Amino acid sequence: MTKSLAIAALFLLATHTSFANDLFKNADMAAGKKLVDHHCISCHAASFGGDGSEIYTRELRKIKTPSGLVVQVRNCNTMLDLKWFEEDEVNAAAYLNQQYYHFK
Ligand code: HEC
Repeated sequence: MTKSLAIAALFLLATHTSFANDLFKNADMAAGKKLVDHHCISCHAASFGGDGSEIYTRELRKIKTPSGLVVQVRNCNTMLDLKWFEEDEVNAAAYLNQQYYHFK
C-alpha cells in the first residue's frame, strides 16, 4: 500500500469506525504515551491543575466517542503545528483511550 493510501485508509477508519477495538487495533500505545507526555501535558496541567489528566476525566469532558477522540487529538495537533502523522494521532488517541476514556 502506498503511503497516501495508507493515510486515506486511516482517515476513513478514524472518521467512520465507531469501535475503539477496531480503531486502535494496530496502535502503538507506548509511542502514543511518549508523544502525549512530551507535547500535551504541561498545558492541560496549567489550565486544569494536578498532573493534567483531569481534563480527560472531568465530569463534563467533551469527548464521547473513540472517533471523536482522534478528531480532538488531530485538532490539537493542527493547532499546535506539531506536524504529527496520522499514525501518531491514532497512537496518542489509543493511549488516551487506554488510560482515561476506556471506550470499547
Ligand atoms: C496550549 C494548550 C494545550 C495544549 C498544548 C494541548 N491542549 Fe488539549 N486541550 C486544551 C484545552 C484548553 C482543552 C479544553 C477545551 C474545552 O474544554 O473546550 C483541551 C482539550 C483536550 C481534549 C478533550 C478533553 C475532553 O474534554 O474530553 C483532548 C483529548 C486533548 N485536549 C488532547 C490533547 C493532545 C493529544 C495534545 C497534544 C498534541 C493537547 N491536547 C495539547 C489545551 C491544550
